[in-house]
Parts: sequence; C-alpha cells; structure tokens
Amino acid sequence: MLVNSCLEKDFVKAKPEASVFEVIEIMKERGSSCGYVVNSKDELVGMITSSTIYGFITDNLSVDLTIDQMMIPIKEIRYVYPDTGLKNVMDVFTKYDVKYLPVLESAYSFKMVGFVSHKEILKHYMNWQMQIQMENLQEKRAREILNSLNEGLIVVDKDLIIREFNPAAEILTGLKAQDRIGKRSSNISSKPSITEIVMSTGQARYNVETQMQDGRVFLVNYVPMRHNGSDKVTGVIQTFTDMTKIKTLQVQLSKTKEELDKAFALTLPNSKVEYKLKSTPEYRDEYDSDKSTIKITETIEGGGYLHVVNCLKVAADFNEMGLMKLIGINKDTLVEAIIFHDLGKSQPNLKVGDVVTPEEAFEEGIFHAGRSADLADKFYGKDEDVVNIIRYHHHTEEMLPKDFPTHLLPLLRLFKVIDGLSAALTRRSAKVTYKSEGSRLIVFEENKHPKYNRVLELDLYTGRGSEKPLGGKIEDGVN
Ligand SMILES: [Fe+2]
Ligand SMILES: [Fe+2]
Repeated sequence: MLVNSCLEKDFVKAKPEASVFEVIEIMKERGSSCGYVVNSKDELVGMITSSTIYGFITDNLSVDLTIDQMMIPIKEIRYVYPDTGLKNVMDVFTKYDVKYLPVLESAYSFKMVGFVSHKEILKHYMNWQMQIQMENLQEKRAREILNSLNEGLIVVDKDLIIREFNPAAEILTGLKAQDRIGKRSSNISSKPSITEIVMSTGQARYNVETQMQDGRVFLVNYVPMRHNGSDKVTGVIQTFTDMTKIKTLQVQLSKTKEELDKAFALTLPNSKVEYKLKSTPEYRDEYDSDKSTIKITETIEGGGYLHVVNCLKVAADFNEMGLMKLIGINKDTLVEAIIFHDLGKSQPNLKVGDVVTPEEAFEEGIFHAGRSADLADKFYGKDEDVVNIIRYHHHTEEMLPKDFPTHLLPLLRLFKVIDGLSAALTRRSAKVTYKSEGSRLIVFEENKHPKYNRVLELDLYTGRGSEKPLGGKIEDGVN
C-alpha cells in the first residue's frame, strides 16, 4: 500500500511573503495546526505549525512579520512521495516524532501534491495489516482445502500457464507440481483444447471423459475463473478423477447383461416368443390419486422382455435362498410359466405425456393371462401345471375356480410375488430385498417414490400374510 491511497490534498498553503496574522487567521478558520509555504511554482519551501508560530510570536511580536521569517525551512522538513510505501512512512513518523508529512510530486520535484497525517496513516496501516493477515489466513485455508482434495485440481491462467497443481493431481498424473507450475499447458492437437474453448467462451464444461495416453479414463470438469464477478475470464480450473475402474466395471456389467440376455434367449422356445416379448412395451407413469389417472412419463421399449428377464433374476435369487427346495415349488414349472405368462398381453399405444384412466386404457390382467395360457397349451404343448399357473396369475385366491389344483397354490403364490417384484424392478426401478423363513417369505420394496414402499409377508403354504407401507427404510440384515 502506498502514500497516494491516503493522500490529503486539501491543505493550508501560503506564499513566503504572506503576513503571519493572515495565515494564522486561515489556519484558525480551517481548524488546521499546520500550513505549508510554497513558491510561485507550488514548490514547497517551508512549513509552519501552531507551536512554532506561538513560540515565535511571543518573543518577536510584530505586525509586519511575514511567514518566510519564521517558517521551518525545506531543508529541515521531512517529506515523502506518492509512491512511498506505508511501512516507510510509519518509520518516518516514529523516528522524527512528527504529526504531518508533506508529499512532494517526485524525487525530482519539490512541487507539493498534498500531505499525510500520522493518524490517517496509522489507520490505513492497521487496516492494511489486518487485510494482509486475513488474506494470509484465507490463502492458508484455501491451500489446506486444495491439499485435502481427492480430486486432481489444475488451475491455468489466461496465458495457459499452470498456476496450481494440487497433490491429488500429482498422484493422478504422476507429474510433480514443481515441474508443472509456471509451465504452459500443452496442446499437441491443431484444434483448440477444451481449456482454450472454455477460456474464450466462458462456458463451463462438466464430466468430459478424457482418455489418457496410458489408457486410463479421466472425468474432467472445466470451470472458467472470473475476476471479481466480471465477465472477463482470467483462467480455467480443471478438476478431475480417474474413472478407469468404474468404466471397466460398466463395460463388464454391460457384457454380463449381454451374456445374460443371450443365455435367456437360449431358453426361449423360438424367435416368435422373443419377438413378441421384445415388441411389447411397458410404461412408467405417475399416479394422480385425486383424479385416479396416470400420466405416462416414459416408454420402456422391449419392456415385456425386460419384465421376463427380471422375473427370472428374482426367481434365481429365491432359488439361492432355498425356496425351490420346498415341496410344491417346482423350479422347471416356475421358469416355464415365467417365460410364457405374458405372451398374450396386448399393450395400448401410449406416448409420454398421455393422461389415461388405467382401467380404461389397460385390459384387465385375467384376459391376457387366459390368452397366454391357451398359447402355451396349444402352440407349445406346455404341461397342465404350467398352463394353470399362467391362466390364473392375475386371479385373487377368492376368484380361483373350485377345481383349481391345491398342490399348485404355493407355486401360484410365489409366482405372483415374483411377477409383482419384477414389475417394480422394470417399471419403477425399485430396490427389492427379501428373506425367507421356511415357507414364510418377507419382501421389502423400496421405490423412488416412498408412497410405493412396502413390506410384504406371505406364507406360501397357507396364503396368510400382510402388506404394509415400508416407511422408506430397509431393515438391516436382510438379504
Ligand atoms: Fe401378467
Ligand atoms: Fe407379468
């Protein structure tokens, strides 16, 4: 901080030949305890203060007295310049025990441009010191934050010179901050780099996947820096993480899914079944309880196929839990019923945004169940148990015909649970967890919308059970 930031330009000045009494009058009017004596070129030649005037007048009182006869001459005056640092000015005040210092234009000119008072300089100096301390503290905190980040962080200025390179960036790139800071960010391509584009457009770019030379994939954010909220971009902050593992996992998962789909396709009796399932859409919707309508929010292409795959996944989990060991639960019958159960389903042709009454737009389940059972029976020669499970998979137990084979009831109950869970997985992207105790099955379903969350308890043998809202939290220790 320099003197010119606290320079006072309004001061009492007098010509050398001015009458002492006149000057005293002016100083009194202005409430000033000192006056400066300047020549015709405004150059400082001397100075008077109230104490020097007082001492002089009491000894040599005369009406003709002029200022130059009593002023402190320039050679005895301490002065500073507009570009003198506050610290130096403070030293001068302390060393010479003065209250005011005149400020001269430069080291080559005696022209007086103003003065500084000890009081003002002290105030500015203290504020300045406080500000420096605050800035140091902020800088220290900012550095601690930068050092603690898991994300790599690189800051480049407007000339693409690297100004920051945090420890995480060192680990991720294998480069040393001391070798990079002060160097220009390299761009071997002939096209402008993303950093250059962000610098020129001022538009941030997030989650840019960047393949490194060693094959790793980084996810990079580019955010423009602006000075004090202005539009002018002064640099770009790059933050990045290594997402190679996640990327590899994604590839593995999609491969696993492809393999699963292929394996499932092998279980299908022919391409007609696959075609039918893949051409039947499912819909995601929002329910309006006041109007009893639904609004279509998404079309799930191939939803029929996905639904059957999800049924098989849940069935596989139940198998692992040992449910297929129960008497009355036949795994082969269950799998066959899953594959054929919705084959006769016909979905309405709806678009996203359509609002419909479910009962009007969608056919009641018992009808496609009947058609699917006939198709499985007549075209694919499925055995009676498979056909019965399919035919009655939308019937409540009260609706079942009197001659429904009782040995199939546990399997029908299990089938309906699987069908419902798969619908939750397919249409609501729900998270389902389950546990079993003998023939008792407990299912937890957690949905994006908590109102659909539920806990279902069912005894497969007796059909007794309950369904309660889950309250949005899955119990611990549940498989
Ligand atoms: Fe169905
Ligand atoms: Fe179904």
